[in-house]
Amino acid sequence: CGIVGYVGPKPAIEIVSEGLRRLEYRGYDSAGVALVDAETLSVEKRAGKLANLTAAVDERGGMTDPRTGIGHTRWATHGAPTDRNAHPHVSADGRTAIIHNGIIENFAQLRTELESAGIEFASDTDSETVVHLLSAQLAEGRDLSEAMRRVCRRLEGAFTLLAVNADHPGTVVGARRNSPLVAGIGEGEYFLASDVAAFIAHTREAVELGQDQVVTIDASGITITDFDGVAMAGKPFNVDWDASAAEKDGYEYFMLKEIAEQPRAVADTLRGRTGTTGEITLDEVRMSDQDFRDVDKVFIVACGTSYHAGMVAKYAIEHWTRLPVEVELASEFRYRDPVLDRSTLVIAISQSGETMDTLMALRHAKTQKARVLAISNTVGSTIPRESDAVLYTRAGIEVAVASTKALLTQLAACYLVGLHLAGVRGVKYADEVAAVVAELSATPDKIEQVLAAMEPVRALARDMVDADRALFIGRHVGYPVALEGALKLKELAYMHAEGFAAGELKHGPISLIEPGTPVVVVVPSPRGRSILHDKVVSNIQEVKARGARVIAVAEEGDVVVAPHVDHTVFVPRVPTLLAPLLAAVPLQVFACELAAAKGHDIDQPRNLAKSVTVE
Ligand code: G6P
Repeated sequence: CGIVGYVGPKPAIEIVSEGLRRLEYRGYDSAGVALVDAETLSVEKRAGKLANLTAAVDERGGMTDPRTGIGHTRWATHGAPTDRNAHPHVSADGRTAIIHNGIIENFAQLRTELESAGIEFASDTDSETVVHLLSAQLAEGRDLSEAMRRVCRRLEGAFTLLAVNADHPGTVVGARRNSPLVAGIGEGEYFLASDVAAFIAHTREAVELGQDQVVTIDASGITITDFDGVAMAGKPFNVDWDASAAEKDGYEYFMLKEIAEQPRAVADTLRGRTGTTGEITLDEVRMSDQDFRDVDKVFIVACGTSYHAGMVAKYAIEHWTRLPVEVELASEFRYRDPVLDRSTLVIAISQSGETMDTLMALRHAKTQKARVLAISNTVGSTIPRESDAVLYTRAGIEVAVASTKALLTQLAACYLVGLHLAGVRGVKYADEVAAVVAELSATPDKIEQVLAAMEPVRALARDMVDADRALFIGRHVGYPVALEGALKLKELAYMHAEGFAAGELKHGPISLIEPGTPVVVVVPSPRGRSILHDKVVSNIQEVKARGARVIAVAEEGDVVVAPHVDHTVFVPRVPTLLAPLLAAVPLQVFACELAAAKGHDIDQPRNLAKSVTVE
């Protein structure tokens, strides 16, 4: 979901609509605005894309008078994505409107209570309960901020809320618990939004809000309190993303632009961070070197593409540091009672820094006294804020829902963390680790070379537009790359695509192979007559023998593989552990092109959200 609030001298509809457009990338299925002018509240909301909302606003003459407004893009949780379930929700007297991101867990009880007091609900959402509670508080003579505080004290679950009221023109009140909200300070104008992308065109001055806080923006500025009304100070920060980062710059889709930005993004993530002995500089550290030395086990928690980065990190960190590493889907982590203590390091990987599953895994780790290190792309977001140490990826804003440059920078950051642990703790493979640092610095140029050679991959993708499924296989770090290749194809091309560990194929999935079934194989380096390479070549022969159409991603100069496969995509040589930085790229391009050939929405695939702030 995306949330925007504005108070200032300009037409609020313009700022709010523009903000919602910039938050579109988060994924949504309906949108709406509430505007306050003099003492009138106007609300418009529509299912579907923002264009539907804009058309409805235009029909009402543009709604350009009000200078105070809130806007929302909704990703359905409770209730289908219809006009009536779209936000804002309005009180029975038509004077108060709220928008909500998150889930109100005690909504059923609140709804029953409100209904028995005679309130009729106009939607199926959990969110609507808030506006009726708020309206009741206002009816008792409280101001909007105090009413919000009182309501928040009754809510359970996760929420970002914004409210406006016709009797409080020039005021927007927000609240947050476990869900993102930042404030922006412009010249005589103030913003509230789920992330800074919504207002970077207007100001770079932002304020981080803490957990369980209520924030009020009006002509006098920003006022922050906790839910009990105790004054709180926000943490100011400067946004260094430039506004043009959120523009397509001539590319047809954001995803294509973001794929092309990968060499730079990886170079930015590595810049200035590697010392000769492997130590790296973390951005925020509330852990001493001794704390890092005391670590005896590592858990990595993440979701989606970030989880695949974590899988690669496991191979690297275990090899370089000899520490045992477990990787776990964040959504599963806390439910299986993992064995953690104060010498466990939990690495939480999250591009957005707001993924609820990952946040909850982090909090569970902290209750067990484990230390948490975050790898995130979003300064000031919740996951870094609640972690003991942070390494920021410097991918810049990623707009396409399907993650590309965020993945590559996460991989780079994971390597840095592995090197850091190795550096602080002293390692067995010191020479190898030093060589990796040099090789890592050379990867941006090699990613550039991969990108320059993508035309045959695009042609192949177009040729496969009618395929209804594909398998991806790999071993060692090629396995998470295979999973990521399959995920990209699912996300973008809506195709049934599965990734498997190549060795596991014979234990079941090989029965899926029929003549012509596309199988993408991530082939490891053949250097040093690698046993890994031999095994993957055997796996290729197994699928080939059953008629598969085999596409290999292999290292330049690999003469062994080509005769056994139908198509080979060559990528430059790098040490095996770093290979995902290159091998993932053709799979991104492949999925993007195939989805485009199918005519799908590349940047906003159906049903997906960029930042999933519900569990
Ligand atoms: C969503 C996105 C994925 C992303 C995952 C984790 O599902 O659609 O692209 O990988 O969340 O996001 P995070 O921000 O925690 O890395």
